[in-house]
Amino acid sequence: MTEVITILNQKGGCGKTTTAVNLSAALATLGKSVLVIDMDPQGNATTSLGIQKSELENTIYSLLTGKSSFQESACETEVENLYVIPSNISLSGAEIELSKEIGYPYILNEKLEEYELGFDYIFIDAPPSLGILTLNALVASDSVIIPIQSEFYALEGMADLLETIKLVESRLKSPCPIKGILITLYDARTRLSKDVSKNVNDFFKDSEYIFKEKIPRNVKLAEAPSYGKPCITYDPDCPGTKAYIKLAKEIIKLEGE
Ligand SMILES: Nc1ncnc2c1ncn2[C@@H]1O[C@H](COP(=O)(O)OP(=O)(O)OP(=O)(O)O)[C@@H](O)[C@H]1O
Ligand SMILES: [Mg+2]
Repeated sequence: MTEVITILNQKGGCGKTTTAVNLSAALATLGKSVLVIDMDPQGNATTSLGIQKSELENTIYSLLTGKSSFQESACETEVENLYVIPSNISLSGAEIELSKEIGYPYILNEKLEEYELGFDYIFIDAPPSLGILTLNALVASDSVIIPIQSEFYALEGMADLLETIKLVESRLKSPCPIKGILITLYDARTRLSKDVSKNVNDFFKDSEYIFKEKIPRNVKLAEAPSYGKPCITYDPDCPGTKAYIKLAKEIIKLEGE
């Protein structure tokens, strides 16, 4: 069974793309077959996986608008078992185009259901907004992971995010449980990081799972995309790589329970 997970938070720069890319690469290295769907017109996941985004014809945009098939849109990456449906700026026009279609929130879901999917996991890298692209991602997903950056405003906007998930569940009849909350850009030396971690625990109490593994602030994670590599191939032994491997193992273990 393929598990489809959206990495969701409308807050910019909280580590969605870094998590989509590096968690996927870690799971692929552990032997899982993984697809990343870049659902953001910024195309950062695409670049981070070594795909030149500017000249692409087959992208998530062409898939959503019926101009390319699923097979045509998925690209191999340098990492074995890891594939990506890339994105580029062409996707920015999709919000308006798709909104004219009847049943527009279901388009990505239909595309994924049309194919006998051989993947263990599909991670959707959502854009920093709660618009049509994010709705499509949520309807197509079995669950979401919410990365939360260790900063003062971390929980701002969380109520809107949770409300969006509820609306998808009630109006669009598409269950979308939170698989887990992931603390990112964590620096154990700072009081701020510890405070944010505590605030997140207090906010969600026991209502949502908070991943045990926190992702540390690690410059290697920030450098790797400029080499078009996930961190696991850029620097296999750095703290960032190790954290995403531990997170991947935590996720596999959760499934076994
Ligand atoms: N754990 C980390 N350690 C160091 N740098 C990080 C870490 N996580 C993310 N970054 C850096 O922070 C910036 C924002 O991260 P990222 O692009 O993953 O966030 P995002 O939520 O996808 O942003 P957007 O909302 O714009 O899509 C990037 O430059 C990234 O390289
Ligand atoms: Mg991003």
